[in-house]
Amino acid sequence: MNIELPILTSEQETEVAEQQLNRKLYVETYGCQMNVNDTEIVQGVMHKHGYDVTDTPDNADVILLNTCAIRDNAEKKIHERLNHLKYYKKRNKDLVVGILGCMAERLRGDLLGEKNLVDLVVGPDEYRRVPELVENALGGGQGVAVKLSRVETYDDIIPLRTEGISSWVSIMRGCDKFCTFCVVPFTRGRERSRGMQSIVDEVKYLWDSGFKETTLLGQNVNSYRDEEGGYDFADLLDACAKAAPQLRIRYTTSHPYDMSDKLIETMAMHKNICEYIHLPVQSGSDRILKLMNRHYSVEHYIERIAKIKEYMPNCALSTDIIVGFCTETEEDHTMTMQLMREVRYDGAYMFNYSPRENTKAWKMGDDVPDEVKTRRLNEIIEQQTKIAAEINKTEEGKTFEVLVEGPSKSSTKNNSNDQWRGRTDHNKIVVFPHSESVSYVVGDTINVRVNRSTSATLFGDVVAG
Ligand code: 5AD
Ligand code: SF4
Repeated sequence: MNIELPILTSEQETEVAEQQLNRKLYVETYGCQMNVNDTEIVQGVMHKHGYDVTDTPDNADVILLNTCAIRDNAEKKIHERLNHLKYYKKRNKDLVVGILGCMAERLRGDLLGEKNLVDLVVGPDEYRRVPELVENALGGGQGVAVKLSRVETYDDIIPLRTEGISSWVSIMRGCDKFCTFCVVPFTRGRERSRGMQSIVDEVKYLWDSGFKETTLLGQNVNSYRDEEGGYDFADLLDACAKAAPQLRIRYTTSHPYDMSDKLIETMAMHKNICEYIHLPVQSGSDRILKLMNRHYSVEHYIERIAKIKEYMPNCALSTDIIVGFCTETEEDHTMTMQLMREVRYDGAYMFNYSPRENTKAWKMGDDVPDEVKTRRLNEIIEQQTKIAAEINKTEEGKTFEVLVEGPSKSSTKNNSNDQWRGRTDHNKIVVFPHSESVSYVVGDTINVRVNRSTSATLFGDVVAG
């Protein structure tokens, strides 16, 4: 079922805004950082239509789940969450429940039948229509909006950010790489970039509004292109770094194929561009990389890492790795292990291959048994944990500039407030003792001398600058 709805005129929109001033919207975000920013975009759109954002589903009139479809278990999580939401709907018959994001795009109208619960399904390029679809749902209707666009970038929408220190800025949407395992080109559509000036203006505005850190986001940021000005991603990064020289700037995600010398040189030129690169390798076997349609060889990848280290010897590196891709042998797996030892990543996101319908790899079959995938996954996790712990051990005794984020996870859990956390330029979490008498606040940059470490965290004491 695909119910097309009329677009509201601006007069009607004003009317809606006036009527809805007391309605509460709760959005739950799953998956990647693009989704975090998309949620802020949807909140921005809904706020303009008179909705207040709440951080709990308990008193919400509208609950939206912004979903991920990258692996099967990401989708399973959403089905389970919908089971929980049944109770909210029982308590409040007028509650509106919607599914946004990649899973909405993939499953479309099928989701409307889900547990007699879902009222609207909206794909990543149709967020401007969320108010209209919610309005329709409040009147008892159901709606689906999943058209993909070649031009939508939400350039003119001000995301409603609820966090005041770190911010996300989408610079491009979609992906044209078509890695054979990946559903993103189907759920997020063709690649398109925002104009450079509007991004630079947003970055400057974020600094002026008190944000201390911004991450430029895209599925593949280094194929960013401002067609009108002929600017590439390195130009954009350079312009952002100059527009807000004290703002910490990060970006994600890069593709090794497009990791140009110019980009590496630009990073090295600016102190406020963090020396941290997430460069997904996926596999250490050329045969598997070819099957994955990744467009680079292990040799090219290693050469790019060497270039990064030449310009930024201390640059932190992280990666994504998939184990158990179609036809992966023990030999391929050994090559991945070897590559990880050679690069020595500070961090890695590691996954079992999950076949996705409609991708090229779906047709290649899924011939590595689950227990083999899991054994290989455990092997790479174990090796990576050891490498990260060794790297972090070498940080002990050093002093880092740390952007203060607030109470550490364990402090929050036991309500003690005696340990706070922050992040280094290298994106590493640092935990340090905190008391009422300290002079720093959230958002300050302080110096912390590291005295202890694990594979995931550095611990230290605040020292004078
Ligand atoms: N199965 C497992 N992992 C996947 N990724 C993307 N598609 C799949 C899949 N089908 C991983 C890749 C990508 C990261 C965001 O998710 O490693 O870089
Ligand atoms: Fe998916 Fe590959 Fe595009 Fe990344 S580059 S979003 S893995 S298709």
